[in-house]
Amino acid sequence: MIQNVRGTRDLLPDQTQGWQYLEKIFVNVAERFGYAEIRTPIFELTEVFTRTIGENTDVVSKEMYTFIDKGDNSVTLRPEMTAGAVRAAVQHNLTATGQLQRLWYIGPQFRYERPQAGRYRQFYQCGAECYNSPHPEADAELIMFAATVLHECGIKDFTLKINTLGTTECRQQYITALTKYLNDKKSELSPDSQVRLEKNPLRILDSKDRGDIAILQQAPILSDCLSDESKQHFEKVLRILEENNFAYTIEPKLVRGLDYYSHTVFEFTSNALGSQDALGGGGRYNTMFEYFGGKNTPSVGFSLGMDRIINVLQQIRPEIFNQPGIDCYIVALDKTVSGFVQHLAMDMRKQGKKVITDLQFRSLKAQMREANKIGAKTVIVIGEEEVRTGMYKEKNMEDGSETEISHHFDG
Ligand code: HAM
Repeated sequence: MIQNVRGTRDLLPDQTQGWQYLEKIFVNVAERFGYAEIRTPIFELTEVFTRTIGENTDVVSKEMYTFIDKGDNSVTLRPEMTAGAVRAAVQHNLTATGQLQRLWYIGPQFRYERPQAGRYRQFYQCGAECYNSPHPEADAELIMFAATVLHECGIKDFTLKINTLGTTECRQQYITALTKYLNDKKSELSPDSQVRLEKNPLRILDSKDRGDIAILQQAPILSDCLSDESKQHFEKVLRILEENNFAYTIEPKLVRGLDYYSHTVFEFTSNALGSQDALGGGGRYNTMFEYFGGKNTPSVGFSLGMDRIINVLQQIRPEIFNQPGIDCYIVALDKTVSGFVQHLAMDMRKQGKKVITDLQFRSLKAQMREANKIGAKTVIVIGEEEVRTGMYKEKNMEDGSETEISHHFDG
């Protein structure tokens, strides 16, 4: 048997109802925040990602689905949405006159990671980006937007972790200080962190290795390198969150896995998940537009991992995965009445009812059993008599009452 590729999943009917539920809530919240949808291609020229996400990040150095197409172009299945959206915004002049743009998106992403619970090679994100506001109000808006999606799905038990990386210069100064400190202790670091020290020292702050954690206790702290302006920006973001009752935890070691951030970074984590506990994340990125030849365009955004939200919803809201109910099941007593049955079903569907018929010419008993199983609200049984007179009974399956109906076909 040919099976799906490792790390990809088939979302079967017992799951898809929950996905639609999440998508509806996301779109509804997006509209209430005044965001408009953008759809970008699933693959881009590879440089769209390498230049923005950063050559030394795990995503770019290990996880991209990159291939040479028949025209000799290096293309990559998108590992995230932010870079492609900025590419599109520059190309179509969405921000050229300095106007504010608020965009949302939903779609599949691809990362060649080691598959495990909550981590897939094809996964789905929904997210939003806001272009052309350097102000902390924009950072707060995006965080509140993401948190509102989680709340409205029914997920209350999540943690919002937040940190600031300061300006690009603050961040660079800190990297220099951290590298200097860690270089002296290089031989004591875990092998992974030794490699990171050369390539991406900030990521060492994320290390789960006990020895690394002990060494990091004495390491320079990012907040010591922050300019006053960076501190004020961050404090304003926190104040807006407080004023709107969004709880947060400041996480001084949160740096995120993509290189493009400055100032605010944040992540939502859930206790209901195992080691892959990040439900989503985001932050401010002020220099990405320049990579694509655009003007300086301060931006901020987030993406939520839909697969992981669904994993939580399966635990806490199993009812949202149920298939929608059927209004009426029309039973056909034999083949000769099937034309009438189809016509009747179509008329009722035009009136907005959810109606199904048997397509296998099964026995009355088998059809009734199915109507019960799927919880049809009413059942209509059509035989020769009903066809001849145009009169039939619609039975309410809850209280057993019957309504006599004389049907006139719409045409
Ligand atoms: P990210 O943290 O790389 O950020 O991904 C966001 C979320 O996508 C993660 O928190 C996680 O829930 C989900 N995710 C990532 N990788 C996988 C995977 N292999 N399997 C399942 N879920 C996964 C970004 O992608 C940024 N573009 C967010 C952003 C938007 N920053 C600014 N604007």
